[in-house]
Amino acid sequence: MVTGIDRPGALDKAFEFIYKSETSGDYFEFGVFQGVSLARAVRSDLHWRKKTGRAHVSRFFGFDSFRGLPVFSDADQLEGYAVFQPGQFADTDSRTVYALIEGEGVPVDRVCLIPGFFSDSLVAESTTTQLAGSDVAIAHIDCDLYSSAKECLDFLGPRLVDGAVLLFDDWFCYRGRPDRGVHKAFDEWRMHNPHFVSDFFNYSWAGRAFIVNLPL
Ligand SMILES: C[S@@+](CC[C@H](N)C(=O)[O-])C[C@H]1O[C@@H](n2cnc3c(N)ncnc32)[C@H](O)[C@@H]1O
Repeated sequence: MVTGIDRPGALDKAFEFIYKSETSGDYFEFGVFQGVSLARAVRSDLHWRKKTGRAHVSRFFGFDSFRGLPVFSDADQLEGYAVFQPGQFADTDSRTVYALIEGEGVPVDRVCLIPGFFSDSLVAESTTTQLAGSDVAIAHIDCDLYSSAKECLDFLGPRLVDGAVLLFDDWFCYRGRPDRGVHKAFDEWRMHNPHFVSDFFNYSWAGRAFIVNLPL
C-alpha cells in the first residue's frame, strides 16, 4: 500500500495524533544513529505545541550503542540478505546528536541520550533512574533487527500509555518476511501482552505505525 507519507511525515502524524488525542507521555527512540529522526521528532513536538498551545510530550529519550549494530543472533540472519551488518552505523557519537538537537532550539535537558547496547542499557539501574516518572507516548523503533526490536518491546510493555503510537521504520525489511526482523518481534510481543493494537498507517518504503491501547 503506497501512502505517500515519508519518514518526517510519519513522525509529524504521530505527534499530531498524540496532541489531538490529549495523550501525554514522552518520546522514546530506539536507534538514534546521527540524530536525524530524533531532531525531526523534536521539531514536530515544537510545531504541535505551538499549534495547540499545549505540551503533551515532555522529554525525548534516545537509545543507541553509538557503536553500530550488535552481533547478530541466528534470528537476525536471512540467507542471501546482507542489507544489515554487525557494526553498521558506528559513525556517530552522542555529542554529535546533542549538537544537532541544540540547533533545534530545544533546551537540551529535555533530551536524554542513553548509550550502550540495549541488552545492557535497557536493564541498567542508571536508566531506571533517568526514566523516573516517564511513560511512553511515542516509541520510534528504528533498530533494524529482530533481536534489538524484541528487547525494546519487552522494555516498552509496562511503560506504554493508552493511545501510544509505535513507529517501526523497518517493518518491511528482510524482504517483507513476517518471520524475520521487527515484524516477527512485534507479532511475538502481541501474543504475550494484553494491549489492543490498531493499524495506523504505512510510511516510506518499509515503515508501519500502530496505535496501542491498554485493556480497561
Ligand atoms: C538505521 S539506524 C537509526 C537511524 C535514525 N533513527 C535516523 O533515522 O536518523 C539504526 C541504529 O540502531 C542502533 N541499534 C540497533 N540495534 C541496537 C542494539 N541492540 N543496541 C543499541 N543500538 C542498536 C544502531 O547502532 C544504529 O545506530
